[in-house]
Amino acid sequence: MALAIRFHDQHDDQPADSLREDVLAGFAATPKAISPKHFYDQRGSELFEQICLQPEYYPTRTEEQILRDAADDIAALAGPGACLLELGSGASRKVRLLLERLRPASYLGIDISRDFLRSSTQQLAADYPWLEVHAACADFSRPLQLPPELRSSRPLAFFPGSSIGNFTPVEARRFLLNLHGLLPLGGGLLIGVDLIKDQGVLEAAYNDAAGVTAAFNLNLLERIRSELDSDIEPDRFVHRAFYNEALNRIEMHLLSPRAQQVRIEGRRFQFAAGESLHTEISCKYSVESFCDLARSAGFTPRALWTDPQQLFSVHYLQTGPRGPMAVA
Ligand code: AVJ
Repeated sequence: MALAIRFHDQHDDQPADSLREDVLAGFAATPKAISPKHFYDQRGSELFEQICLQPEYYPTRTEEQILRDAADDIAALAGPGACLLELGSGASRKVRLLLERLRPASYLGIDISRDFLRSSTQQLAADYPWLEVHAACADFSRPLQLPPELRSSRPLAFFPGSSIGNFTPVEARRFLLNLHGLLPLGGGLLIGVDLIKDQGVLEAAYNDAAGVTAAFNLNLLERIRSELDSDIEPDRFVHRAFYNEALNRIEMHLLSPRAQQVRIEGRRFQFAAGESLHTEISCKYSVESFCDLARSAGFTPRALWTDPQQLFSVHYLQTGPRGPMAVA
């Protein structure tokens, strides 16, 4: 049986164009920086899946166990027949932990990595023949639109993995406000949020011994070299990841140990010895600080689950008036 997915292309400008503009602006800025969304070409998406399997990278397996344990509670909160929309769906792997018990009417995977999205959602449709599967190629850091045929059904947004950590708290609030505007009254948001913890545990998660996170970070430079006109040499940079305690966030950088000049699209950029390109932030929250952020964007925390070690949290938020905390 041929299982079709419904594909909605919302990535209006070519991803390569936005890479070009962002790279040129980011390399010209002080300090040099670029959005982590550009990590996710095909290779970057694959490397991210490998990161999730590293022993030091606790978020994935911890969140998956929380979701497994909470699936019945989540299903009770959302009710059957919802439209489940996943922001940054990647391999569409975590959603599988919910589908049998949630029994949504439809699923919409939203991701910036077009081919990766297409193959992941096709596989999902093949594995869950009862589910209506949609895919939308879009950059969820920009205002989103729901495909018209999904607008009337009861949506539950699913934003796992602490991807919200890629935003600063100010950007995260803006993002949640946008999402709030997209959801009807009583609409749900199931969101995974990494917790503040011991600095050593945090730093190990972004410096795995196998070097997968380093390869993921450096792949950004491979992407610049292959997709843009550039002489940049990835092996002249090194991966750096550390916890910024004042800002409660992991920062990833690509550091230039020696002074060098790189040429990109006819422009020249100078790196001093020890200067870096800032590639990612991964903000960490306490349960309270995240609930405050959610409330400031109009959401009401309805339920919260964590693991016994308090490494990671999953929140069920709802738009509209305050309700009781459903689960301690
Ligand atoms: C997908 C943004 C949640 O911040 O932990 C993993 C990305 N970067 N290792 C994270 C990432 C380096 C990840 N998020």
